[in-house]
Parts: sequence; C-alpha cells; structure tokens
Amino acid sequence: MRRCYTVEDMRQWLADNNAYKFGKTKTVGFVPTMGYLHDGHMSLLEQSKQDNDLTVLSIFVNPLQFGPSEDFERYPRDEERDLRLAELCGVDAVFLPSVEVMYPHKPLTTVRVSAIADVLCGASRPGHFDGVATVVSKLLHIVSPDRAYFGMKDAQQVAVLTQMTADLNLDTAIVRCPTLREEDGLALSSRNVYLTPEERDQATVLYASLQTLQQSLKEQRLSVAQAEQLLAASLREAPLAIIEYAEVRTFPRFGQPSPHSCMQDIIQQGTTLLAALAVKFGTTRLIDNMVYAPDRE
Ligand code: PAJ
Repeated sequence: MRRCYTVEDMRQWLADNNAYKFGKTKTVGFVPTMGYLHDGHMSLLEQSKQDNDLTVLSIFVNPLQFGPSEDFERYPRDEERDLRLAELCGVDAVFLPSVEVMYPHKPLTTVRVSAIADVLCGASRPGHFDGVATVVSKLLHIVSPDRAYFGMKDAQQVAVLTQMTADLNLDTAIVRCPTLREEDGLALSSRNVYLTPEERDQATVLYASLQTLQQSLKEQRLSVAQAEQLLAASLREAPLAIIEYAEVRTFPRFGQPSPHSCMQDIIQQGTTLLAALAVKFGTTRLIDNMVYAPDRE
C-alpha cells in the first residue's frame, strides 16, 4: 500500500498505475475520511474495491469544516492504526496530506452549495458544508476518481456533494452507502468514543426513535407534524438527550414538506422523505436518519 503525502506524490502514483485522467486504463474508487477508521469506513472501502480496479483512501481532518468552538483539536486521530487497517483491507494507496499541503494559504476560492447546505446540520453548524464541499472538491480534483463513496449516515453531506458534482460537472459518480450500526443500533461514528458509559447506553435512543416512527408509519397515517412529535417524544425518553433537531425533510433536496400533509401520501406520490436527528449528549453531537422511499415495484 502506497502512502502519499503530497499532491504530486498522489498524482504520480495514479499516473504510474495507469489511473490518471485521459487515456487511463484502470478505474479508481475513492473514499475520503477524517480517519480514526471504523467498520462504517471499512464498508465504503469494501464497496469501492468491488466496483473499481484501484481504491484510494484519504485521511485528512479538515479544519475548514469545523466551527471555532468545535472539536477540531480534539478530534480522535490514530494514523498508525488507520494505516494498518487500510493495509489489511487491501487499500491500494492512502493520501495523507498535512494542513499545509491542502491549504498552503487561506483559500480565496471556496465551494458553497446553497439551500441544501443551510438547513439542519448546516443551520446548527454555519459554514460546515462549505468546508466539506471545498475540501471534497479539492480531493476530487487531486485524485480524479471514477467513483467516490459516502455514507448515508451523513445524508445531508451526500446530498450536498451530489449537487456539487452535478453543478460543477465533476467527472466522478457519488456512490451512496448504507449506515453501519453497532448491534444495539447506534450508528458507528468516530465521535462515539467521546461518550461516557451512561451516555453510550442512552445513545441507542436515536435509532430506536427512527424505528418507532417506521413502525407507526406501517400502522397508521401520520402527518409530518405528528411524525416529528413522535420522534421528539421518543428521544425525550433518554434523560441525557438534548435534541438539536428532529425533522422530516424531502430527500435529496431537504425541502420542508407541509406539516399537515400525510407522510404516506407524500411518499406514495413519489417523493422520498427522510427523518433526520441531531442529538447532543453532553458535548458530543450525534446524528442519524432514516429514508422512506416510494415503492418502485
Ligand atoms: P468521516 O466522518 O471520517 O466519514 C467518512 C465517510 O464515512 C463519510 O462518507 C461518512 O458518511 C462515512 N461514514 C461514517 N460513519 C458511517 C457509518 N456508520 N456507516 C457508513 N458510513 C459511515 O464525513 C467525513 O469524514 C468528512 O466530512 C469528509 C467527507 C471526509 C470531508 O472532510
């Protein structure tokens, strides 16, 4: 497995493997991460390996997507462990740029996806998705992959990046991958290590409330407002949970459906809906979501 620390290294390795730009003969799958790898990241790498000749992983904790009072400094990092896991998984090359390599100076050009990036996580973390879109755009220009893999745990991120690649005519397909969970339903996340044992116990409430909604949708007609009330009520069963948002939105545009319309009717008319949650336990912020797609049989 090749380790590349600079843009030139990365591109040279791709060129040496007939995998860079025009005339290339190999397909490249790309999995961008901020490291501290877990099975969720691994599932994206596995999917990429299945679909492509070569798989490139990037590990970069991107300062641009963290707010001033967020956890950039204390974000968990373990490069040696990540590299061992990547090697075991059969990754072909890892791109490990420093902050200086990615941002030799404060960029004057940034990428901003409007509307989708301004609600939910975008509203509670101003500038977050601009940071994500900017760094992913740079990474896609550096690696020029055929496909890039993203987890639906971060559904809004997937939507923002899909919109960005379409709007900017980037020649990379964005591939959505399902959310991997612990046995008790908690979505895997690098930030789960911040949770105290008591918080960890109660963190199962996110997925439990999404499942409660899913079950209720099978049993009774629910308006969007009722669904949101149901989510909030189930989340409140965990005394340590501080709800940031519990909302139903359209996917992938993240529009707000009319609160009085019936969820089942909206879905049946062909609109995909998404229930999205952000909940804080102490200083740790967790997100989760579930998609309700029309039956297309
Ligand atoms: P990071 O949080 O490290 O996540 C990297 C990728 O792994 C993302 O696509 C994320 O959605 C996916 N992922 C995380 N947890 C997952 C889970 N439980 N199941 C499936 N996939 C999961 O997301 C980022 O990094 C950054 O914003 C990045 C895109 C790298 C830009 O800096």
